[in-house]
Amino acid sequence: MIEAVVINRVEAESKDCLTLHFEWDRPVSPGQFVMVWIPGLDEVPMSISSIGPEKAMTVRRAGEATEALHALSPGDRMGVRGPYGNGFELNGMRTLAVGGGVGMAPLMPLLRTMYADVAIGARSADELLFEEEARRYCDKVETSTDDGSRGMRGNAVQLAERMMDEGDYEQVVACGPEVMLYHLFRACEARGVHCQMSLERYMKCAVGLCGSCMLGKERVCIDGPVFDSARLRALSEFGRSKRDAAGRSVGL
Ligand SMILES: Cc1cc2nc3c(=O)[nH]c(=O)nc-3n(C[C@H](O)[C@H](O)[C@H](O)COP(=O)(O)OP(=O)(O)OC[C@H]3O[C@@H](n4cnc5c(N)ncnc54)[C@H](O)[C@@H]3O)c2cc1C
Ligand code: FES
Repeated sequence: MIEAVVINRVEAESKDCLTLHFEWDRPVSPGQFVMVWIPGLDEVPMSISSIGPEKAMTVRRAGEATEALHALSPGDRMGVRGPYGNGFELNGMRTLAVGGGVGMAPLMPLLRTMYADVAIGARSADELLFEEEARRYCDKVETSTDDGSRGMRGNAVQLAERMMDEGDYEQVVACGPEVMLYHLFRACEARGVHCQMSLERYMKCAVGLCGSCMLGKERVCIDGPVFDSARLRALSEFGRSKRDAAGRSVGL
């Protein structure tokens, strides 16, 4: 069921991301997502980046649908249905959270709830997301940028590898571009560190019926989007290929 929600606040986060805050009284777990309906245009999946009484989604400008979401102002309405997906499993393990680009969005509800150290990666300083807010909740927050404009010069995987080698983490929780997640997964496997990673696939129904989000035998909309180490090991497409809107397999 699509529900109309009213935008309360719009917050600029980085060069190409903003956060839309809205009232929605559905319970949401960290890592779950909604389908956002933009009348006359499209319906697209978005993670929930704040799960309190006021919810939020953090949107990176990518194409037509996200451009339309960027044009919304306080008082405007949008349609949402959900929440969908399994979300992250909260547990007591000593955790490193790793976010690449807008991949920080589904990690924020976790960071407000559990103790974790954080590695945030982006192409450049003006694309880093949620560094200041993460510092409010977490003792250790490190950043990396591809161009070296803030934090370590390099990518989020290189930063996470350094932090894993210095720390004694039992678990990594992560979201970001799949190639980044694949290399991070391999780094975790090499160190015996358990992981939970949030993956993306093309979504239409979001309720397990249409098959557009298949990843091997898994439907990312209902079996994911969060997969743990054991399930990632079994996914031969992980880090290699995905399906486009027409269902064709394309390389990442
Ligand atoms: C579970 C999940 C959670 C997501 N969370 C966020 C988030 O918190 N913030 C954010 O900015 N983005 C998020 N995305 C990505 C977001 O859905 C796409 O960026 C958006 O759909 C792009 O639409 P567009 O029309 O603006 O761009 P387009 O030009 O149509 O597409 C740009 C890219 O987005 C992908 N995309 C387009 N439509 C879909 C779709 N229906 N399902 C999946 N991918 C699509 C395309 O494959 C393409 O790679 C998430 C995706 C998934 C699957
Ligand atoms: S989006 Fe339809 S089965 Fe997952």
